[in-house]
Amino acid sequence: MLFPHDWTAWDREDGAAVDAAAVAQLESGGILLFPQLAFEVRAAERDFFVPSMAIAKNVSFDPASGRVGGARATGDEAVALGSWLRRFSDSAAALVDAALPDYRGRLERGRASFRPAEIAGRQTSWRHDDTRLHVDSFPATPVQGRRILRVFTNVNPEGRPRTWRVGEAFDRVALRFHGRFRLPFPLTAAVLRAVRITKTRRSPYDTLMLQLHDLMKADGAYQASAVQTEVSFSAGSTWVAFTDAVSHAATSGQYQLEQTFLLPVEAMLQPEASPLRILERLTRRPLV
Ligand code: SIN
Ligand code: FE
Repeated sequence: MLFPHDWTAWDREDGAAVDAAAVAQLESGGILLFPQLAFEVRAAERDFFVPSMAIAKNVSFDPASGRVGGARATGDEAVALGSWLRRFSDSAAALVDAALPDYRGRLERGRASFRPAEIAGRQTSWRHDDTRLHVDSFPATPVQGRRILRVFTNVNPEGRPRTWRVGEAFDRVALRFHGRFRLPFPLTAAVLRAVRITKTRRSPYDTLMLQLHDLMKADGAYQASAVQTEVSFSAGSTWVAFTDAVSHAATSGQYQLEQTFLLPVEAMLQPEASPLRILERLTRRPLV
């Protein structure tokens, strides 16, 4: 499931060829791994590396507005934190642009995040517990069927890895849980939008993906028995995956950067491999 690429730069200004197989690897549920692609942290930026930098779990960065959210930094430190996250966000965008030329012009850049908390032993509700296998879906920002592509880089200054468990393929997960789906009433989406729980209308697809996320995490027997493989991402490595389809659990690690991109299903080489099309086949109805 890991597809290593020996890149050492975030852009391809060195003119090296891109790997034509990368898109197919990603779309079939693989993780593109860049073991030698580290994100540079300058000396002054080391000050951000305290768990208390995040008010809750993550610090967020919106590249469109430049706004930093959820951070304790103020004044000059807040400005420097924003510059650091901007540099990372731009690097992640350069990476996907170079590595995935088939998606050029179709990827929409979303938020970035800095995750300074140790994952192992963190106390959360089951729904927020990312140490349980799940696929990603966003409660507040519906994607309307679009794919969630994420770039992660482990910036742990002590050289500690980030460990995940990776579960079974999306079509198997969907097959296992779709009998427990509750298709939403159309009115619910309008109400959620009207009271601004969601920022845009939540599509039936978004509702089912949230249900899948919850059904997976809530099912202790599934968590224990699902086929899963431990994966260790070393400090100084970077990886890319469609986390709406790759079943994953983050089990340990501290200090990570992440950038989210959204991709329309029609921009995929194999749209039929998308969670949207898989769920539409299972439920026999259009979901966006
Ligand atoms: C997740 O998306 O479940 C968390 C991934 C991570 O923070 O490593
Ligand atoms: Fe996740």
